[in-house]
Amino acid sequence: MKLLVTGGAGFIGSNFIHYWLSRHPGDQIINLDKLTYAGNLGSLEKISQNKNYKFVRGDITDQKLVNRLMAGIDWVVHFAAESHVDRSLNNPLVFLKTNILGTYTLLKASSNHKVKRFHHVSTDEVFGSLSPRSKRKFSERTKYDPRSPYSASKAASDHLVNSFHHSFGLPITITNCSNNYGPYQHPEKFIPRMITNLIRGEKIPIYGDGKYLRDWLYVEDHCRAIELILTRGKTAETYCLGGQIKQINNLELARLIIQLMGKDFKKSIAFVKDRPGHDRRYAVDWSKAGKELGWRPKYSLREGLKKTIEWYLKNPHWWDKLKKETEKFYTRTKKTCLPSYRRACLSADR
Ligand code: NAD
Ligand code: DAU
Repeated sequence: MKLLVTGGAGFIGSNFIHYWLSRHPGDQIINLDKLTYAGNLGSLEKISQNKNYKFVRGDITDQKLVNRLMAGIDWVVHFAAESHVDRSLNNPLVFLKTNILGTYTLLKASSNHKVKRFHHVSTDEVFGSLSPRSKRKFSERTKYDPRSPYSASKAASDHLVNSFHHSFGLPITITNCSNNYGPYQHPEKFIPRMITNLIRGEKIPIYGDGKYLRDWLYVEDHCRAIELILTRGKTAETYCLGGQIKQINNLELARLIIQLMGKDFKKSIAFVKDRPGHDRRYAVDWSKAGKELGWRPKYSLREGLKKTIEWYLKNPHWWDKLKKETEKFYTRTKKTCLPSYRRACLSADR
């Protein structure tokens, strides 16, 4: 099989390429990635010399390039996106360009070249926000209700993917997945930000009251689900994917990480300005993927976090530069615990 993976230098894409080549060493992968601030070839060093792997630096909105790369491709696995909600609040336009126009460009070329499968990696954020008191979960039947420019652009891309199936017969599949964590995740995201702050002896910035709920999935479990969907999934189907855990809010998650890293809770957190329009709760019912594909997440949150913490402790050279750039962004947007923002940071000691 010959795969075109987009966004393979990002967090989930790079984990997927490692996973795929270790399980399907005879397959060929072309990785198309623009190398934005979120792309990092350091995540792919171990396979850069593999004769079945080729990296192409380019933009998914570049029609000519995408059309040329699509020749002879069996499967497209589309990860490339602007993926950070906080950044979408500051600069939405690039989200619309990459996530909507980029997906359209890939769909058009996939349709022209009659690829056998276009797998679109999407998010549970397209479904909006759940009440913290309800027991409801997102499923394949949930109505779309995106609430940030990021999730709105992902929702638009999902609709475009479906439209290419209905209008032009393109064999597509879509996954709507919950929050991932694991190795090679950019330190702008909550779990790696917490771990790297603690390693540097800094506090964890908790947005708002910290009672926001997320559904955490270890990235390898996500990669295995995509493998099952490519090899056994039905075309034109959507699969919701999520983690093993019941309910954990951001403060409780911080407490667990602080405990696993042997630090003191009260001294390690600070409350900072909230994210505007912050979605209260995500939770995913992944029973369809369970029934149809035999998939279930293997890693408990504790196991996944231990592996993740160990990885960040061993690989400061991978994240150190990214961390400095990221904290500049957070300082500009006042979501930091630096001394100059002390008034915005209510210390947990009080
Ligand atoms: P990421 O931000 O770590 O990586 C995105 C990658 O896409 C980067 O390598 C970047 O260089 C590349 N890219 C961005 N714009 C591009 C363009 N115009 N052309 C080519 N490449 C471009 O993202 P991630 O966390 O790995 O997420 C991957 C996908 O999974 C995204 O589509 C995201 O919406 C989805 N998703 C992420 C999560 C999560 O928790 N991280 C959960 C559910 C779904
Ligand atoms: O649900 C899937 C989505 O998960 C993906 O589609 C997105 O690409 C991915 O970024 C993620 O979105 P979130 O906004 O949920 O993830 P983030 O890591 O930015 O934040 C997780 C929670 O932690 C959220 O409630 C905000 C909070 N937070 C985040 C940061 C960075 C903090 O309290 N402090 C922080 O410093």
